[in-house]
Amino acid sequence: MSNDTIGSIQGEALAALLHEHRHFSPSEAFAKSANAQPSIYEEAAQDPVAWWAKEAEHLKWEKRWDTTLEWDLPFAKWFVGGKLNAAVNCVDRHVEEGRGDKVAYYWVGEPEGEHRVITYRDLLAMVSQAAHALEELGVTAGERVAIYMPMIPEAVVAMLACARIGAPHSVVFGGFSSEALAGRIQDADARVIITADGQFRRGTALPLKPQVDAALETCPNVRSVLVVRRTGGEVNWVEGRDVWWHDLVDRQSTTHTPEAFDAEHPLYIMYTSGTTARPKGILHTTAGYLVHTATTHRYIFDLKPESDIFWTAADIGWVTGHSYIVYGPLVNGSTSVMYEGTPDAGGKDRWWKIVEEYKVSILYTAPTTIRTLMKWGESYPASHDLSSLRLLGSVGEPINPEAWMWYRKYIGRDNCPIVDTWWQTETGGIMITPLPGITSTKPGAAMRAFPGIDADVVDDHGDSVPNGAGGYLVIRKPWPGMLRGIWGDPERYRDTYWSRFPGMYFAGDGAKRDEDGDIWLLGRVDDVMNISGHRISTTEIEHALVGYPAVAEAAVVGASDPITGQAIVAFVTVKGEQAKSEEDGSQLVSDLRDHVATTIGPIAKPRQIILTPELPKTRSGKIMRRLLRDVAEHRELGDVTTLLDPTVVKMIDENLKAHPGTEE
Ligand code: WTA
Repeated sequence: MSNDTIGSIQGEALAALLHEHRHFSPSEAFAKSANAQPSIYEEAAQDPVAWWAKEAEHLKWEKRWDTTLEWDLPFAKWFVGGKLNAAVNCVDRHVEEGRGDKVAYYWVGEPEGEHRVITYRDLLAMVSQAAHALEELGVTAGERVAIYMPMIPEAVVAMLACARIGAPHSVVFGGFSSEALAGRIQDADARVIITADGQFRRGTALPLKPQVDAALETCPNVRSVLVVRRTGGEVNWVEGRDVWWHDLVDRQSTTHTPEAFDAEHPLYIMYTSGTTARPKGILHTTAGYLVHTATTHRYIFDLKPESDIFWTAADIGWVTGHSYIVYGPLVNGSTSVMYEGTPDAGGKDRWWKIVEEYKVSILYTAPTTIRTLMKWGESYPASHDLSSLRLLGSVGEPINPEAWMWYRKYIGRDNCPIVDTWWQTETGGIMITPLPGITSTKPGAAMRAFPGIDADVVDDHGDSVPNGAGGYLVIRKPWPGMLRGIWGDPERYRDTYWSRFPGMYFAGDGAKRDEDGDIWLLGRVDDVMNISGHRISTTEIEHALVGYPAVAEAAVVGASDPITGQAIVAFVTVKGEQAKSEEDGSQLVSDLRDHVATTIGPIAKPRQIILTPELPKTRSGKIMRRLLRDVAEHRELGDVTTLLDPTVVKMIDENLKAHPGTEE
């Protein structure tokens, strides 16, 4: 990042600024009108379960629950005995209560000039029609439906239609490859897929349906594919299996009688990377998840449904999209912006045009995007009126103080509180965050546990660390939005999250408490990387690489990167005499990168692949990842005495310097 891009807050100036402003106190005006008042922490701490029960009163229940929490570690059930319908809570109730004309979504297409306004009444009609359509395709409660779609309103409608009829959805990010899609369809045993013919990316129409067609070659149980026409043009069509959305959905009745489901009825499965090659299907259920997402959305973003325009700039294919584009905001009856494209589609000021045009008041995005915007420079936001913004949020990875300060100064014009929110696919909703109007903020810190959440930082033995010390982030008590398990694998659920520290949920993140006791997140402590806020497992990529015929062994590490947070660097040894010459080598590297893209998806493409005659290993045969990370980050090498062959590392290092061309 060059000096001029961050303008006045680089280097020493930044250090001085951070020193001077270690805290940003909430403004009085904000504090007075904030949804969360200071007593909230104490109220929740006195009896967290009762506090969540009080928040659950905001939902519309067909039948009230009998028991708020049944906790049989590590299995939780919330609002036991209660019955409700998720889609009714997101849509019908707002129409019934007289808010039918309120806008649910301002949808902004990637091609400039394309937009749609969808009121709660429109949404109700669309969801009802889609629910009928799914029923016509034979979908019944409990059956899984996979959704592989671009960021178009029909994606939200598809999710809500599934929820309405009790069919858990499994949304797969549109950037995943057909192989990755197939693996997720098989694991969830989804029988119906909802997709689109294609999607727009930076002005180009890219096909999507061919990936579904390819995936379905290995998914014999799928009987129907419902296809939205988005980009137009030719598509391959399988008669009897494929059906156009406009043929099937549009002719359905716009009224649909909802059924109430148990509070613990499965709402969705979302696949995320773990430390093994196989992604985990994280299971979320209905009532607890809705209570958690709506409550956090209301307090953390200080949501005023009458006046706020809320924008989560994320994809529906990730949990952030599920919780803060769809479920939380809709339960709260808010008006959201939903944008289909990338931040630079139609110009590097595209986001700021959207903020200005729709008078966005709350913006929620990821540090990696903030750093990209920062690299482009402040002239882009400066050329638009951003005065509608009153609160900013960050999610997905640790935010570096420079990016935090830039966000505050150039987007928030020094008068928007910033909420740095820590959470995970598994937690369902935000867990650690400041509360605007109450909590002072510090650039780079997520600060403290949300009310009703018992988070802690512990040492190797599971004991709380004192202020000023680092350790592992854990959650000590169950919370409403917590995952209810890993689809089809209860043992893996227990092993992954509940065995490292007995009785505590282990998040996989390192954290520290500063001298004031505030929490800072330090990144993953396992083999999971965070690339542009996307979770990708080192093992998953290694698995893909060794699946390539010429590859003998592979080791993948996440090296720090100024924009994407971490970047994927792979060390690969080849079989026998392959890749002897320089040209063979570069060809192989490029083939391998493509191979990873087809196996997992373009987001998993290594930034750099280093061919090496051997991998550094300890005497017990374990690959020394720490050392490889040092090499990848061009750092001084540490202690290599435990290496089987110390010269290997030198070789790797030299190889790296000799082949800068493999870096992209
Ligand atoms: C990381 C995304 C620091 C963390 C909602 C976590 C963060 C993983 C933050 C979950 C934050 C998320 N500060 N790190 N504010 N938010 N993370 O499942 O490592 O895609 O474990 O959920 O992202 O990623 P996931």
